[in-house]
Amino acid sequence: MSSRSADLDIARVNALLNAGAGPETRGGLAWRIVYEREVTSTMDVARALAAGGAPAGVVVVADEQTAGRGRLGRTWVSVGGVNLYFTALLRPSLAALRQLAMIAPLAVAEGIGDVTGLHAEIKWPNDVQLDGLKCSGVLIDADVRGDDAMLALVGIGLNVNLDPAQTPELSGIATSLRATLGHLVEREAVLAAVLRRFGELLALVDAGESVRSRWRERLNTLGRSVRVRMGAAIEAGVVVDVAEDGSMELERADGSRVLIAAGEVTLRS
Ligand code: BTN
Repeated sequence: MSSRSADLDIARVNALLNAGAGPETRGGLAWRIVYEREVTSTMDVARALAAGGAPAGVVVVADEQTAGRGRLGRTWVSVGGVNLYFTALLRPSLAALRQLAMIAPLAVAEGIGDVTGLHAEIKWPNDVQLDGLKCSGVLIDADVRGDDAMLALVGIGLNVNLDPAQTPELSGIATSLRATLGHLVEREAVLAAVLRRFGELLALVDAGESVRSRWRERLNTLGRSVRVRMGAAIEAGVVVDVAEDGSMELERADGSRVLIAAGEVTLRS
């Protein structure tokens, strides 16, 4: 059986997003999907649309990326026709911007659960994992001026029907919904569910709430012994908690504690 499916059916995604009507069930934000079969990176297309004045809620979705980007300058493997690659253009409040690194992976994890029943975990700060393997990553590119968040581009890659065995560079690191469940999953349903959750979480935060406890409950990094790389610097210790803004509180071997806002985590135990 080939895992290559037809191009994404955006009319179907819109129908699923609109099902049940009401802005509250659509998640507040009016998502508007801009679909391209193949792009360099959905981040590039979203950036160009933003420069042209595109409003919040535009989501650039592609079937394939020829130059997909990950965090820390890495490449994001973007096999065509099997996964989801999309970038949401937001013009968030500062409160929403502060919680975006929690909101986005939480929307992915909850959207996956809505469609498949799987319980996805979050590896700090925003990798989404199934059975300890990464199935989704989030790349946030934000322009902030003074106290104003001008623009945030939230890029999400989600392995839906990827066969990791066909992609040796992902072996032992990544998984997909299909690999976990043993059957194909409808990409349109997953995209609609994630966008719906994303809109709901943004609306909650704009109403003054915090998503920290929902995000924290899914964190598989709490209580673990980790090594965190921040550029050239490395910290090691046990993750004792996460702060309100999602920063990791790490206890070093000497008992001192440090708050870490961003970095690359390796789990040690
Ligand atoms: C990570 O390193 O975990 C973040 C990966 C983000 C990948 C997505 S795919 C859609 C968007 N376009 C890109 O080039 N990157 C993000």
